[in-house]
Amino acid sequence: MACVIIVGTQWGDEGKGKIVDLLTERADAVVRYQGGNNAGHTVMFGNKTFVTHLIPSGILSKTTSILGNGVVIDLAELIKEIEELEQLGITVDNHLHISDRAQLVMPWHKTFDRLGEEQKGKNKIGTTGRGIGPAYKDKIGRSGIRVGDLLDLEHFRCRLEELVVENNLLLEHLYKSSEKPFSIEQIFAEFTTFLKKLKPYICDSTLLINKLIEQDKNILFEGAQGTFLDVDHGTYPFVTSSNTLAGGACAGAGIGPTRITDVLGIVKAYTTRVGSGPFPTELFDEDGDLLRSEGQEFGATTGRPRRCGWFDALLVRQAVRLNGVTGMAIMKLDVLDKFETLKIAVGYRLSDGELSENLPRSLENITPVYEEMPGWNCKTAGITDYKKLPLEMLAYLKRLSELVGAEVSIISTGPKREESIDLNPNNLWN
Ligand code: IMP
Repeated sequence: MACVIIVGTQWGDEGKGKIVDLLTERADAVVRYQGGNNAGHTVMFGNKTFVTHLIPSGILSKTTSILGNGVVIDLAELIKEIEELEQLGITVDNHLHISDRAQLVMPWHKTFDRLGEEQKGKNKIGTTGRGIGPAYKDKIGRSGIRVGDLLDLEHFRCRLEELVVENNLLLEHLYKSSEKPFSIEQIFAEFTTFLKKLKPYICDSTLLINKLIEQDKNILFEGAQGTFLDVDHGTYPFVTSSNTLAGGACAGAGIGPTRITDVLGIVKAYTTRVGSGPFPTELFDEDGDLLRSEGQEFGATTGRPRRCGWFDALLVRQAVRLNGVTGMAIMKLDVLDKFETLKIAVGYRLSDGELSENLPRSLENITPVYEEMPGWNCKTAGITDYKKLPLEMLAYLKRLSELVGAEVSIISTGPKREESIDLNPNNLWN
């Protein structure tokens, strides 16, 4: 039995989808435990690229795929994703399970996400606009509707009547919007149609997951976003609204911490970020442009160009601590193929001139202190034999590992599943 958490160690987009897809071969189930369709997990399926937003990427291998209670679900988008999979010849029947405790993303959540960002103006978070923050706000404020509420339509209608009145008041008075008010009839009709399609998949996911654990099955917990988008430990307020850390898997899937056997930290060989917020090693020069073009750094969900910068060892060391990382998958090393020199942030010069090797509370007004290493300056994309990796790359990997305090277990040299070197294939699954 193994319960392995896959967690992003930076600001998301580290390549979790590819690693989940790679490891799914030996997994019996894949579970999403937080976030919603703000995520975009890119997987190469044959020669086609597929991006899953809600459904765990394990579905492409027809592995049991579970949306846990900690996820916020936009049912229209979920149905769209199911239909897109069906067009690829992948049916989700018998494989997909949706928690009856997961929260619904309602129409007002999406509207308020957009209007809230507009009101914030230059201080906006740069959200994905999927209604994630408002949905979690209502969950914590006990004004949310859960998937299971739909199973009793009379009860669902009562909740709707109450909440539509409240949210129309917010629309008019708080957001001062002249948009059409939310309609009980329209929403009720839409959600009744969603229920018809999704009812077979709704279940008590916590019971399902714990039964799989009792049967000694191998389970992957697929984190979304990354450590520094975590609502407690990220660059607040420029974060998402859930606990993206490995610890979030326990509450978001309903399992005890003693069940977790490994935490695999997914680490991009450089750093990227989408949306607003501090980013100490961000590059505004041609090196940044080269990282963006070589790494095709454009958001999988919104298409926005990602901000790019050098590897930040302080960030990843903190992520190793926060998540209890037991091994790392280093992603997109081939993107660095054209660089003569590589830089790694090993310290921060704070605004008062002090040098820090640990993360301060705020990452604003910081000057990174860099260490330089020679690049390998040759093509490594697609190499699958460890012995064929250039010595400079091995030295870079060794240095990253020393600086962040975790072992490298997987090296990724391209987007395809097979473009990977698994240094300890039996380690995770015992
Ligand atoms: P929200 O999750 O849509 O509320 O957005 C909050 C912040 O998290 C914004 O900076 C987004 O760009 C960022 N974010 C949300 N989901 C992802 C993701 O899957 N990858 C990278 N950034 C994300």
